[in-house]
Amino acid sequence: MHDWAITRRQLLRFSTASIVTAGVTSCRSLLATRSEASDQSDENNNRVILPSTCVPLNSECPLKDQAASRGLIYGAAGKYKTLSADLDLANVLAQECALLVPENDFKWQALRPGLNQFDFSRSDWMADFAMEREMLLRGHTLVWYKSLPRWVEEQVSVENGEAVMVDHIRTVAHRYAGRMHSWDVVNEAIAPEPTVENPWRPSPWLDWIGPDYVAKAFHAAHEADPEALLIYNENGLWWDAPEGEAKKVAVLRLLENLKTQGVPIHGVGIQSHLRGHLMEQFQPEKMRQFLQHVADLDLEIFISELDVRDTELPDDIEERDRLIAGAYQDYLSVILEQPAVSTIVTWGLSDRDTWHSK
Ligand code: G3I
Repeated sequence: MHDWAITRRQLLRFSTASIVTAGVTSCRSLLATRSEASDQSDENNNRVILPSTCVPLNSECPLKDQAASRGLIYGAAGKYKTLSADLDLANVLAQECALLVPENDFKWQALRPGLNQFDFSRSDWMADFAMEREMLLRGHTLVWYKSLPRWVEEQVSVENGEAVMVDHIRTVAHRYAGRMHSWDVVNEAIAPEPTVENPWRPSPWLDWIGPDYVAKAFHAAHEADPEALLIYNENGLWWDAPEGEAKKVAVLRLLENLKTQGVPIHGVGIQSHLRGHLMEQFQPEKMRQFLQHVADLDLEIFISELDVRDTELPDDIEERDRLIAGAYQDYLSVILEQPAVSTIVTWGLSDRDTWHSK
């Protein structure tokens, strides 16, 4: 392991998100309130806002250990493109994270150049990186309506849809069997504004296989890798605008049905792409109830893609960091009350290449 000291200020240049996640997971009980945050200036005389009780980041106190002290796994998304080219980032990620989730390198777009072709060059590199750095590896994602190469729409249909999906899952999950902490087996199957009559998000897999595509995907994944935790991953669950509430109900109904059918599902991923300017839509009590309903189904809970969109926040960097820190603290303070929450993943460690800036 690199004995690679990095101050929190240096890491701030990577990501406010990680700092605040560290702050909440590690120092929440000690964390000074935002108003008590200490003001410091970094080597470039940029003011750096830190909760006064947060300890400087260094290899003696990495985020992963701070989270582990609360019984949590902390990890982050990473990309082959940046980790293979940026040793600084690779070292910080390995130092701070107990788990790596490839942001795009395990998606169909990356793995499948053709109907009868697989390209594991980037996914193998990511799996080897995780193993060499002694990190858990989380696969994302075996079945999704997005990130499908063009040939899928051209060569897959009702006739071969199920066979193509199951073959993909078996081939990919079998290749990494025994090395995976968890898989997002199915991602975002529920509509943004679901109804009782039709909760389903439009998806080629739904068209070709029907609603059972979800259960069939989980069975195929479990047959290919009986050891991996199998997760249903979903977005739009953190807020309580009308669609957020209906979505929680629809996701719970899906989970209950899967459990009733004996489908091998072990947990739920709540993506948690928070919007810094909409945090008033986060209703703690509704989230507490949702988390408890999921826990009552004997499912683990992953906060699977945590980040805060700051594009609508004030330009002033100190105010923006304060609002972002507040969003993380307000959200995670509720989430971390639920014992079924096992894993917190930020959707990236460095703001240098966050999807938000694309
Ligand atoms: O790799 C190609 C490159 O060869 C090409 O030149 C370039 C031109 O557009 O595209 C590159 O692929 C991009 C890929 O990221 C890798 O960088 C895709 O266009 C781009 O759409 C893709 O965006 C990713 C997106 O999912 C779609 O897969 C984002 O990085 C990623 O952060 C985002 O993550 C999703 C989760 O998987 C599911 N939950 C929501 C989350 C945010 O949208």
